[in-house]
Amino acid sequence: MQKFRFLTAGESHGKALTAIIEGVPAGFSIDEDFINEELKRRQSGYGRGGRMKIETDRVEITSGVRFGKTLGSPITLVIKNKDFENWQKIMSVYAEDFTDEKSFTTCRPGHADMAGAVKYGHKDLRNILERSSARQTAIEVAVGAVAKLILKEFGIEGTSRVLQIGSAVNEADFQAEIDRAKEEGITLGGRFEVIFKNLPVGLGSFVHYDRKLDGKIAQMVMSIPAVKSVSIGDGEIAHKVSGREFHDEMFIENGKIVRKTNHAGGLEGGMTNGEDLVVRANMKPIPTMRSSLNTVDLSTLTETAAHFERSDTCAVEACAVIAEARIACALADEFLIKFGGDSLKEIKRNAH
Ligand SMILES: Cc1cc2nc3c(=O)[nH]c(=O)nc-3n(C[C@H](O)[C@H](O)[C@H](O)COP(=O)(O)O)c2cc1C
Repeated sequence: MQKFRFLTAGESHGKALTAIIEGVPAGFSIDEDFINEELKRRQSGYGRGGRMKIETDRVEITSGVRFGKTLGSPITLVIKNKDFENWQKIMSVYAEDFTDEKSFTTCRPGHADMAGAVKYGHKDLRNILERSSARQTAIEVAVGAVAKLILKEFGIEGTSRVLQIGSAVNEADFQAEIDRAKEEGITLGGRFEVIFKNLPVGLGSFVHYDRKLDGKIAQMVMSIPAVKSVSIGDGEIAHKVSGREFHDEMFIENGKIVRKTNHAGGLEGGMTNGEDLVVRANMKPIPTMRSSLNTVDLSTLTETAAHFERSDTCAVEACAVIAEARIACALADEFLIKFGGDSLKEIKRNAH
């Protein structure tokens, strides 16, 4: 059963984003500054749009923590949307405030707009955009920061880096590639890598499809907005190399099993094998762009240009930070499943 669980709520221009995390044992130190640093990382990166200049995300912890330590009770995290000041009427929960200001009916290809409107029966596509927006990933990064603090107690740390932006594969060329796209009114995607180090052997399990950690990680990363493919280790080239080239041979050094390669990316049989966990993913280009694509107006069923609203040109760096957070949640969950207890003390005893 899942141990580290969370739900999030909140609209992009609503009052706040909220998360409730269930299953964090008592006694873990929660450093608000660390959570805020992670939020800042999500907001940075070259190529972001105007929204990131308005919001300086800061977390407020409203339950589950006392005097800096977790109590074992549900932890509530809140991030206020600063921009709500400008959207109070438009995003009001009250019927008497109804307005059609900022409503729109032209679907943006690559977004949830069309299918969401059909599914939920909405005429105003803002009712879809507000929740499908990647703004919700801010609160997920805050949740991921809590997961990281759990893992940190056991020396497990994660990092990420951008591998490619559009056709640029060298860091030195990323900014120029983004500048070029911005000038042309188009957008870019890219490729990134997340690595977690110092994982114990045996997180996850081979015994059932829904306990395999590769599957759980793929779900966590694939469901980040705009992520279109996820691979573990050298999974992207697995189809074109031989078994001799792909598999990581084992050797004994000082009485310990060691590997000289890590093509498997730290997972074999759905379990951590003690090597670094390596996850790579591809993000599609941002769908909203100045040079709008052809689309359909849902109210008139006529062809038109897609709606444009302030938007990022490229957000791969942020996406990598979100992936780190999501993977941290999956790993914290597995760690608590394997070594679980009600307090940090009990888990430390179990993990040794
Ligand atoms: C960090 C981040 C920032 C994003 N910023 C934008 C944006 O400014 N404009 C936009 O149209 N899409 C943006 N997206 C992508 C959309 O949220 C995403 O493509 C859309 O919700 C549809 O989901 P799907 O691509 O997973 O199908 C962003 C995604 C991420 C991860």
